[in-house]
Amino acid sequence: PVASACRSVLCALSFAENRVRVLVRVASAVSECIVCSASRPETISHPSIAGRMADACEDMPKADTIALRNKHIGKSCQLFYRADPLKIVRGQGQYMYDELGARYLDCINNVAHVGHCHPKVVEAGRRQLATLSTNNRFLHDELVLCARTLAEKLPGRLSVCYFVNSGSEANDLALRLARQHTGRHEVITLDHAYHGHVSAVMDISPYKFNQPGGDPKPDFVHVAPCPDVYRGKYRDCDYPPGTDLGELYAGEVQRLLERSPTGVAAFIAESLQSCGGQIIPPPNYFRRVYEAVRAAGGATIADEVQVGFGRIGTHYWAFEPHQIIPDIVTIAKPMGNGHPVGAVVTTPEIAESFASTGVCYFNTYGGNPVSCAIANAVMRVIDEERLQENALLVGRYLLDQCRSLAAEYELVGDVRGTGLFVGIELVSDRLRRVPATAAAKAVVERMKTVHRILVSSDGPDDNVVKLKPPMVFTRENADEFLVGFRECLAHLQASEKHQQQQQQQSQSQQQPASPAMKTATVRVNHPLAPGGLTLIKSA
Ligand SMILES: Cc1ncc(COP(=O)(O)O)c(C=O)c1O
Repeated sequence: PVASACRSVLCALSFAENRVRVLVRVASAVSECIVCSASRPETISHPSIAGRMADACEDMPKADTIALRNKHIGKSCQLFYRADPLKIVRGQGQYMYDELGARYLDCINNVAHVGHCHPKVVEAGRRQLATLSTNNRFLHDELVLCARTLAEKLPGRLSVCYFVNSGSEANDLALRLARQHTGRHEVITLDHAYHGHVSAVMDISPYKFNQPGGDPKPDFVHVAPCPDVYRGKYRDCDYPPGTDLGELYAGEVQRLLERSPTGVAAFIAESLQSCGGQIIPPPNYFRRVYEAVRAAGGATIADEVQVGFGRIGTHYWAFEPHQIIPDIVTIAKPMGNGHPVGAVVTTPEIAESFASTGVCYFNTYGGNPVSCAIANAVMRVIDEERLQENALLVGRYLLDQCRSLAAEYELVGDVRGTGLFVGIELVSDRLRRVPATAAAKAVVERMKTVHRILVSSDGPDDNVVKLKPPMVFTRENADEFLVGFRECLAHLQASEKHQQQQQQQSQSQQQPASPAMKTATVRVNHPLAPGGLTLIKSA
C-alpha cells in the first residue's frame, strides 16, 4: 500500500492539472495506510481504504489514456459518451467516481447488480482467489453449490447447469444444446434482438446484422416482429381496447414456424427485450409462442442475460410473469457483479441429448472456483438485502413519477417497465408516435454533463431513455434522477420554443415588411386540395 501510495504521489506530481486535489487524496490515503499498518496490518485491504487508494491511483492524465486507447484499441470498441468519454476510477454502491473524484449516479449498470464493489462479493472473490483459482475440471464445492442454488431458483425441470464466461458464450451454447436435442438448425429470433458478439449469436442478432455494414442474415434465421405495442407492427392505438395483441404478434411466429423449410430448432428471445428499447410484450404473447414452438418440435430459449436475478421486482426471472417455463435459460451479466461469469441451465433431457454425442464440453474458465464463489455471494446478497423487493418498491415509485412527467411534457410518449427495468420513449409527435431521437441523445448527454447522472438510450430509433441501475438504487436516487430528467425535458422544451420563435422571426423578415408593397390573392388548382388553394402573391 505504501508503494502504491508513493506511485500515486509520483503520478500526481507529474500532472499539471488537478494536482492539488489529487495530492490531498494521496496524502489522506498515505496517512490512513500508516495508521492502519501500525495498528492493524491486516486491515490494509479494507474496501474503504483500498477504494480511496484506487481513487488516487490514476496512472496517467485522461488525455494520455485517450491517446493510448486511440492508438492501441480497435476503433469498433465504442465508449459511452464518445464526445467526452468518462474515465471512471472507482465504483461504490450505485455511484461511480471519475478521476477527479466527481460522483455519478449510475442508472445504467445492470452489471454491478448488487452495487459496485459490494464488500461481501469483493471478499468472496478475494478469499477464493487467495486460496485456489483453476479450471473447472476438478471437484469444487463452490461450483456445485452455485449450480444447486440456480436450480432451486429456477422453476420446473431446469436443473442442469453449464458454466461459461459471458452472455455471448451462454447463448452460443444454448443454440448448440437446442440443435443437438432437436436435430435441426433453424432459429426464430425477434427483430432488434441482441444475443451476443460471437459468430453464432451475431447470426441471430438483428440489432447487429441489420446495421448497414452488418453481415447478411443467414437463411436459417427467421426474424419475428418485436412485440412492441407502442411503436411495433401491431400498435395498441390502432385496435379497439381489449384486442389481443399478444395473439397477433404470436401469429407472426406461428407463420414462421409453418414456413420453415427444415423445422425450427429454437425460438430465442429476451424475456423483456432491452436492446429493442425496454419492451414489455403484451399478455399471452410468450405463452402462445411457446405452445406453438413446442407443437412444432422446437426448443424455447429465454435470454435472461440482462433481466434476470430479481431486476423486474415481481419475480426472480423475467420469464416468470409470462407464465412460461423455457427449455433453456441463459444468464450472465448480473451473476458476477462485474466479474465475468455466466451459465446455461436446461432440463435433464436436453442435457442428455447433448451428452449423447460423446463430445465433451470443456471451458477453461467457465465455472472456475473464483467465479462461482462470486456468483454465490451475489445470490446470497440479493436474498439477504431483499434487493428484489427493493427493485419492486423503488421501481414502482420511479415508474409512477415518470408517468406523471408524461402529463407535463409532450415529449414523453410512453413510460413502461417493471422493477428497476424502465424505458421512457421520447416522441416529437404523440399522435403519430414519431421518434425523438435527437432529444433522447440530448437528454443522455445533459444528464451526464449537468446532473452527473448516467442513463443510456436504445431502441430501433434510439429514442428510448433506459434505466437499469444497480439493485441498491433507492427512492432518493429515483428522486435525484427525476429532478435531473425534468430539468432536461424543460430545457429541451424551452430551446425548441426558442428555435420556433427564431424561425418565425426569420420568416417574417423574409416576407414583405413594407405595407406599401402590393399583394394580390389568387386561386390555384392543386391535386391534394379539392377546390384549389388560395395564395398571396406580390403584385
Ligand atoms: C440480452 C443480451 N444477451 C447477451 C448478451 C451478450 O453478453 P456478453 O456481452 O456478456 O457476451 C448481451 C450483452 O449486452 C445482452 O444484452
